[in-house]
Amino acid sequence: MPLHHLSYQSTALLSVSDTVMQDLLAKSRTYNTAHEVSGMLLYRDGQFVQVLEGEESVVRALYEKIRRDPRHTDVVKLADEPLTQRKFGAWAMAYRP
Ligand SMILES: Cc1cc2nc3c(=O)[nH]c(=O)nc-3n(C[C@H](O)[C@H](O)[C@H](O)COP(=O)(O)O)c2cc1C
Repeated sequence: MPLHHLSYQSTALLSVSDTVMQDLLAKSRTYNTAHEVSGMLLYRDGQFVQVLEGEESVVRALYEKIRRDPRHTDVVKLADEPLTQRKFGAWAMAYRP
C-alpha cells in the first residue's frame, strides 16, 4: 500500500483557544491512529501548516474533509507526493502552537 505525503497551509477561522484546539486534536489523533495517519500541525499568528502522511487514498479522503472544514479557509496545498518513509511516524498528530 503506497505511502503518501500531503501538506497545506490555511488561515484559521476559529479563535484557537486551548479548549477548541485540544478537542480538535483529540478527535484527530483518535481518527489518525485508527487510520494509520501520522503528521504534524503548526499554528502561528492565525495560520495553520499541516503535514499528513499515510496510505494515499486515506490521506486524500482526510484532506478533502479537512479542506471543507469551516474552522479554516484559504487552504493552499504545499506538497502532494509519494513518500518512501514516514517522517512523523511516531505522532498521530504532533502539535506546536
Ligand atoms: C486545521 C485542521 C486540521 C485538522 N486535522 C485533522 C486530522 O489530522 N485528522 C482528523 O481526523 N481531523 C482533522 N481535522 C478535522 C476534520 O476537518 C473533520 O472535522 C474531522 O475529520 C471530522 O469529520 P466528520 O465529522 O466529517 O467525520 C482538522 C481540522 C482543522 C481545521
